[in-house]
Amino acid sequence: MREGVLFEITKDSLETGLRGFPVGYCVTSFVDPMKGLTYVGRPIAELAGKSPIELIYLLYYGEMGDKNQVAHFQHELNKRAVLQDETVKAIEALPKTGHAMDSFAAALLIVGMCEGKGDYREDCLDVIAKLPHIVASVINSHAGWGKTPDPKPEMGYIENFVHMLNVPGAKTPELVQAMRLFNVIHYDHCGGNLSTFVGKAVASGMEHMYGSLAAAMTALAGPRHGRANQDCLEFVQSVLNDVGENAKAADVEKLIRKKLAANELVYGFGHAVLRVEDARATVCYNYCQKHFPNHPLVKIALLLRTEGAKVLKENPKISDPYPNIDAITGSMLMAAGFPYPDYYTVLFGLSRTVGIAIQIVYERLEARGGKGTPIVRPLYFYKARK
Ligand code: MLT
Repeated sequence: MREGVLFEITKDSLETGLRGFPVGYCVTSFVDPMKGLTYVGRPIAELAGKSPIELIYLLYYGEMGDKNQVAHFQHELNKRAVLQDETVKAIEALPKTGHAMDSFAAALLIVGMCEGKGDYREDCLDVIAKLPHIVASVINSHAGWGKTPDPKPEMGYIENFVHMLNVPGAKTPELVQAMRLFNVIHYDHCGGNLSTFVGKAVASGMEHMYGSLAAAMTALAGPRHGRANQDCLEFVQSVLNDVGENAKAADVEKLIRKKLAANELVYGFGHAVLRVEDARATVCYNYCQKHFPNHPLVKIALLLRTEGAKVLKENPKISDPYPNIDAITGSMLMAAGFPYPDYYTVLFGLSRTVGIAIQIVYERLEARGGKGTPIVRPLYFYKARK
């Protein structure tokens, strides 16, 4: 390739989902095909034990805060964390039909209508602070789990969320720990994942923060993107039903071969960018091996991890035969005491909204020396259908 050229566009590049097209800069995170996700240059495996507020601080300010800075940031978010009663009532009035991601996207619009300030930076901090209250209200209302308890942000970001979520029979400490891990590893995945790209594209038309985030969440809701975590869990459950919890690696390998021969999908493998096991998945596999080694779904997910990669590697056409994040998170949440897959994508949204909001602030207020990026307007060629 010529010097200075990042990507050569040929006819073959068209209609490929902008795969690999350089578009801009991302100041929060990066996904290296061989090393996986880093937040502000730090590998996700090193960060997974940190608290949500420490990592939100890192993504928002671009550096780790010291104890006082993080405490001050926490205090600032806590002041913004409670939704007005009218806002909660409007969320509770949403239809209970449809997927909960539809309610979440609608809830973001409602919060914008009732509490939006029309200032990207202010709305970014507000929405990050209010997300636990928004999402708990959405899930409780959609699931019919009753009135959402008053928020207690001083408990901690995810502790407060779990406190507000009326999960029937929850084992709280285990659930809090797993949900914290799930939350911190999903904040950001560089600039080009579909929901982030859509959110920033909508914001490029100068749509406000809440409208841009609502659009982003409808993008996340698709089964090829965020809803893959729900579908993957259903797949692991179906494998468990077929082979039983005492299955050996050979039983799982045989089943995978049978499914592939029948042109059936094997869920939880491959990624548009990654060419190794998703670093976030590795963190979750390790967590599950430590905390839930005997859970039937975890046992199957671990066998799928090795056997799936082994079988898929035999096909040279498969560029990434390794497990992605969705291969394990559903089993982890089930084992931790949240057996409600209909809400797994909403939990993904609770987390990813943070990274998207921060990236929108960068693109609107900081990029190109503060001018911001222009409205997104790619080129399409005309082609007659016949
Ligand atoms: C994500 O976390 O957004 C997914 O892995 C998809 C992606 O990065 O394109």
